[in-house]
Amino acid sequence: MGPRVQETHMPVTIRLARAGDIPSLEVLIPHSARSLQAGYYSPEQIEGAIGTVFGVDSQLIADGTYFVAERDGRIVGCGGWSKRQALYGGNRDRAGADPLLNPACEPARIRAFFIHPDFARLGIGRQLMTSSETAALQAGFNSIEIVATLAGEPLYASFGYVVIERFPIVLANGSSMPVVRMAKAYEEPRSKAEG
Ligand SMILES: CC(C)(COP(=O)(O)OP(=O)(O)OC[C@H]1O[C@@H](n2cnc3c(N)ncnc32)[C@H](O)[C@@H]1OP(=O)(O)O)[C@@H](O)C(=O)NCCC(=O)NCCS
Repeated sequence: MGPRVQETHMPVTIRLARAGDIPSLEVLIPHSARSLQAGYYSPEQIEGAIGTVFGVDSQLIADGTYFVAERDGRIVGCGGWSKRQALYGGNRDRAGADPLLNPACEPARIRAFFIHPDFARLGIGRQLMTSSETAALQAGFNSIEIVATLAGEPLYASFGYVVIERFPIVLANGSSMPVVRMAKAYEEPRSKAEG
């Protein structure tokens, strides 16, 4: 079967990201952040986060847990989940491996959602979230955590994630960025969900 086309506001094709997508993602992510986070963070905060907090985590692509949304063959959004410990950030400056989580007792992560500004608020983030949550549950997790930007918080709140704590991330340029840790637990015990 080919990639799914999900009909909502904006029909896009959601497919797993490939290593060959990385150059496009390295353009999309800063463009999305500079535009869609402008109402939430200062230019200094956004520039301080680009490349480190906002960057490609190629481990997610290698794991097959990162998705892209395509429209007419062009990547217009990305986002995914993780079965590993890191809560946020690209892997450019990561020292060593990112250890695997235990699905029986640890929450999966939602990671790195970025939509092209021309395609914002058209339901693409929602489609990527649905794909990510479904895949994380299929992998055996029954809770999910996110360290979200303030720009991302309304999307995740609309999926039922609740705020656990707010804290600042110290950035490479010395500024800091307030973020929010959010979580969601599923009611179905894993044994039931597995049938
Ligand atoms: C956050 C982001 C991924 C949302 O993607 P999106 O495709 O625009 O979101 P959707 O259109 O799927 O929105 C789904 C729901 O989320 C909520 N939502 C999304 N963006 C919102 C906003 N700017 N203000 C208020 N609610 C918002 C709404 O409930 C929306 O449903 P509605 O449009 O029917 O009201 C996008 O704004 C983005 O890329 N931001 C910059 C990067 C970033 O900060 N990413 C989050 C990293 S944790």
